[in-house]
Amino acid sequence: MFSRCVGLVLLSAGLRVASGLNLQLATSGGNASSPLLYGLLYEDVYHSGDGGLYAELIQNRAFQGTTVNVDGSGQQVPPFRTLEYWHTEGSDVLTIDNAAHALSDALPWHMRVDVAQGATGDTGFWNEGYWGMDVKQATTYTASFYLRGDYTGEIRGAFWSNTTNSKLGDTVFDVSQSDSDGWIKYEKTFIPTSSAPDEKNTFHITFDGAQTSGKSLRFNLISVFPQTYKNSNSELRQDLAQALNDTNGKFLRFPGGNNMEGQSSPYMWKWNETIGPLIDRPGRPGTWGYYNTDGFGLLEMMQWCIDMELEPILAVWGGLYLDGEIISEENLQPYIDDVLNELEFLMGPTSSPYGALRASLGYPEPFTIKYVEVGNEDFLNGGIPTYVAYRFNRFYDAIRAVYPNMTMVSSIWIGYFNGQAPIGVVQDLHDYLSVSDMVAHFGGYDHADRNYPVLVGEYAAIYDAQHTPPNQLDNPTLQSATSEAIYFLGLERNADLIVGIAHGALIKSLHDEPDNVAMLKHSPTEIVYSMSYYVAKLFASYYGSETVPVAADSPYGPLYWAATKDAAAGTYFLKIVNYDGAASTPVTVSIPGKTGQAKLITLTAPDAYSTNTLGNSTSVWTETTLFNGDEVEGNHVNVNIYIG
Ligand SMILES: *[C@@H]1O[C@H](CO)[C@@H](O)[C@H](O)[C@H]1NC(C)=O
Ligand SMILES: *[C@@H]1O[C@H](CO)[C@@H](O)[C@H](O)[C@H]1NC(C)=O
Ligand SMILES: *[C@@H]1O[C@H](CO)[C@@H](O)[C@H](O)[C@H]1NC(C)=O
Ligand SMILES: *[C@@H]1O[C@H](CO)[C@@H](O)[C@H](O)[C@H]1NC(C)=O
Ligand SMILES: *[C@@H]1O[C@H](CO)[C@@H](O)[C@H](O)[C@H]1NC(C)=O
Ligand SMILES: *[C@@H]1O[C@H](CO)[C@@H](O)[C@H](O)[C@H]1NC(C)=O
Repeated sequence: MFSRCVGLVLLSAGLRVASGLNLQLATSGGNASSPLLYGLLYEDVYHSGDGGLYAELIQNRAFQGTTVNVDGSGQQVPPFRTLEYWHTEGSDVLTIDNAAHALSDALPWHMRVDVAQGATGDTGFWNEGYWGMDVKQATTYTASFYLRGDYTGEIRGAFWSNTTNSKLGDTVFDVSQSDSDGWIKYEKTFIPTSSAPDEKNTFHITFDGAQTSGKSLRFNLISVFPQTYKNSNSELRQDLAQALNDTNGKFLRFPGGNNMEGQSSPYMWKWNETIGPLIDRPGRPGTWGYYNTDGFGLLEMMQWCIDMELEPILAVWGGLYLDGEIISEENLQPYIDDVLNELEFLMGPTSSPYGALRASLGYPEPFTIKYVEVGNEDFLNGGIPTYVAYRFNRFYDAIRAVYPNMTMVSSIWIGYFNGQAPIGVVQDLHDYLSVSDMVAHFGGYDHADRNYPVLVGEYAAIYDAQHTPPNQLDNPTLQSATSEAIYFLGLERNADLIVGIAHGALIKSLHDEPDNVAMLKHSPTEIVYSMSYYVAKLFASYYGSETVPVAADSPYGPLYWAATKDAAAGTYFLKIVNYDGAASTPVTVSIPGKTGQAKLITLTAPDAYSTNTLGNSTSVWTETTLFNGDEVEGNHVNVNIYIG
């Protein structure tokens, strides 16, 4: 069995190595590389957002809908309001209701709780969460709800464990209101008295049955948040956010993804319905089978960029719904205006109407947006002719008229424009490939037209020899992750052309989509870090500002390599990938005129089809410091280095 692995040699100084492959790194002659090369794509898919990165614990918190229904022709039907994920306990009956007065225009439905005549003891209801909840004693939780009705007394909010059938912690809201008071918000922070043994936890709201006997209480926007990443307004779940920050990505492409396009009219992602107080966010039926709360909205995503120092690559709706409906040229202007409004909201001075709106929401300083992408995969469903004829150009002209330096990104291959695309337009190419096609892309950009830079806005190796279409890999394997690493090397070698790359499935819920690859899969309490995650982290963490020409005495394969250099620090980064290579292949590395020490980092696993799964992480990351004269056989990396 051959081992496959990813090797990385960081050279802060010179190395001279004997026999086998000889690599000589040049000390000049490189190109400036993209400062953004490795980044992140976010869209709400398979509960990456709601029930994932967005830290809210309560599912169907504002009775907006849960599953998304599609009719026979592929049209989404309007949100189907239910009490899904809510359950009664005690002596009351729960009913979905929209009797006046609504909490807000955006949240017209609520839950009516009718308490039985003669009720005694505690009564109320509970929520299942998104496949359970993470309850930890070390974390502060904020619980809140809106209440309408006639009640003076206590309302208790409590976490319960299914497994131990015991209360894990609670908080008491002192309520005093009558029907005529309308909706009143209550909020409390609390720390559980014990941590749950697992994810099987629920959140309960109860009150005194005798005091509410025969009455109706109405609840809406019932929310429980743990402390979030950096306690910031991005509202990110801490462990997932930490995992993302650890990748050292440099850009965030958002808000999608097919989820932005919408399955059918009118359910595109609408920026202005994702901002401001939660009671003003209607949410929408998402593309991926569930309702999006849009609690994780435009400003939360911008705050995420701030929290992790990510360059925003903003995708805007380009006039195409996934069911094939395309906006005609005569009808396109309102959508262009809407994008200009969005850009003014993000970048305008506070003296502008939308800049003032941004400031009123806590962000007086304008953001900087340097990249705008028109649509997402707008070649889908017959989108190419209209994209080329008018859709791209109308957005391009209108945006560049206001922001002349904006880098515009086409969501289709530039070749479709038959040479008519403006020079400098970035093309976003998505590569979901077999492992062999990933490897074949190693040289794919060597002779590409330098007039049209490339953003690989989504990638993943999804088939290997054991999984051929339509059977995708369930999880990245060492082999699939190393094929992605070779694709990365091809990008690093062409770093003058490539803007950046992001995995196409950043986060998936283990409960919603246990199958099909993702960088990270999560349950309420755990994260699976895939092989692809570690490869991306390794590559992004050690990457220089310039490419470095490498002379070699053997052709590429089964070893592949590329080098970059941090020009300011004088550090060289040489990456070597062993794809299906022999167990021991010595490599000699030298940099003329350099001496000193190096760091060797290797990533490997027991065999080509090893994967990381819940409770079984098989990948091994090692770090070794090499000094002059050292000879190292990397852990399965099969790179022997002699310094001196
Ligand atoms: C620099 O870019 C040019 C094309 O723009 C390419 O021919 C050359 O190989 C690149 N050099 C390196 C070291 O990447
Ligand atoms: C907890 O138990 C209830 C039944 O009492 C069940 O409906 C719910 O799904 C369980 N939640 C979890 C996370 O197991
Ligand atoms: C996030 O990543 C940046 C860049 O690597 C690092 O400087 C920062 O300390 C990280 N923050 C946390 C909380 O890990
Ligand atoms: C959002 O923008 C659209 C298009 O400009 C507009 O029709 C709609 O009324 C706006 N919605 C809100 C909540 O402001
Ligand atoms: C565009 O970029 C040029 C050169 O970097 C700069 O001088 C100019 O101020 C920029 N214009 C705007 C509107 O940002
Ligand atoms: C862990 O994964 C390895 C490699 O994928 C597999 O051989 C092994 O059986 C797994 N162990 C468990 C306990 O699932």
